[in-house]
Amino acid sequence: MMLNCDSLWLGANLVTLRNGCYHIIEDGALAVNAGRIVWLGAHADMPEIHAERVTHFGGGIITPGLIDCHTHLVFGGNRSHEFEQRLNGASYADIAAQGGGILSTVNATRQADHDSLLHSALARLRPLLSEGVTTIEIKSGYGLDVAAELKMLRVIRALAQQQPVHVVSTCLAAHAIPPEYRGQPDAWIEQACQSLLPAVAQEHLADAVDAFCEHLAFSPQHVERLFTAAQALGLPVKLHAEQLSSLHGSELAARFQALSADHLEYATEQDVAAMAAAGTVAVLLPGAYYLLRETQCPPVELFRRYGVPMAIASDCNPGTSPALSLRLMLNMACTLFRFTPEEALAGVTLHAARALGLQDSHGSLEVGKVADFVHWPLAHPAELVYWLGGQLPCTTIFRGEPR
Ligand code: NIG
Ligand code: FE
Repeated sequence: MMLNCDSLWLGANLVTLRNGCYHIIEDGALAVNAGRIVWLGAHADMPEIHAERVTHFGGGIITPGLIDCHTHLVFGGNRSHEFEQRLNGASYADIAAQGGGILSTVNATRQADHDSLLHSALARLRPLLSEGVTTIEIKSGYGLDVAAELKMLRVIRALAQQQPVHVVSTCLAAHAIPPEYRGQPDAWIEQACQSLLPAVAQEHLADAVDAFCEHLAFSPQHVERLFTAAQALGLPVKLHAEQLSSLHGSELAARFQALSADHLEYATEQDVAAMAAAGTVAVLLPGAYYLLRETQCPPVELFRRYGVPMAIASDCNPGTSPALSLRLMLNMACTLFRFTPEEALAGVTLHAARALGLQDSHGSLEVGKVADFVHWPLAHPAELVYWLGGQLPCTTIFRGEPR
């Protein structure tokens, strides 16, 4: 029987990332209809297909579209001056204690209007997209009052209208103690639970809720209160945990069936076991590790042993990871965290999709999934991880259409 479809893509090896492995199909064929993959396999095994459009690449590889599953792309100003202060001896915690750090970005973000936030975020989004990113998660968390958080979330939703990219929005309600609530974090958590989250849910402004569980931010008890409110509204949760110390936030996150726990430099075996049991993804952020000159590596070997899927993301943010290249993060995951290139690539495709709850529709080349993929004129997928900087030409297909 003849298969009719919108487009057919030939002449490249398919790096499917099925089950998180390269799983390469040599000289592949990939058929797309209505934005979904309807057939893929070796060209030699292809059934009779009639396509409106046929593209022949003449070599190279096709990977799934890349997924950056943890960013803070929307913010006012930047913190290059703090980068300089740190190189002159101040620590991230010192700067935060003096009202700098996250709170200085909160100031700048509150002052910026919708359009200027949109404009500056677009300038950061473009370089990520130019490297084959087709899905990106973006967090609020620099507003920290109800109006400014809603403003950020509306900018995040507006970004999806501006560019051909799938945007997942996260309400990072508990990122830092707002200046008005200094010394009363409980009161902000109550405000977030009673006013912010219900407003967010009502306007469908977020797909998940996040918090920063750390001595200089919120305690596990605060996080528990916030997560309980999020779940009551039907919002999944995720957590910045174990970045600078061990509070067992990741274990707490697992108890709430969190999509992911992120950073995790100080995660213990007990945390890892809880994440494995809950199916919580470990999102590792080599850019922040690198910029903060951390020396404690996340327990990658434990994640492997317990079968916790590991994702990699840019954590693009003005304080700890002003990263505009996901490809660079792949390289850093290998050099700094000892990932294999195959694990790194799975970390920005299949496992990153899982960290966003999108594993059934995104993250690998499989029949039924959304047709987000990238053609690279490269011989082997390890090259995506290997080259440092520069630009790799690529053709990005978003929902079956060249972008
Ligand atoms: O993911 N850890 C907390 N949040 C950000 C840093 C935000 C900032 O410094 O502005 C992170 O690293
Ligand atoms: Fe972050």
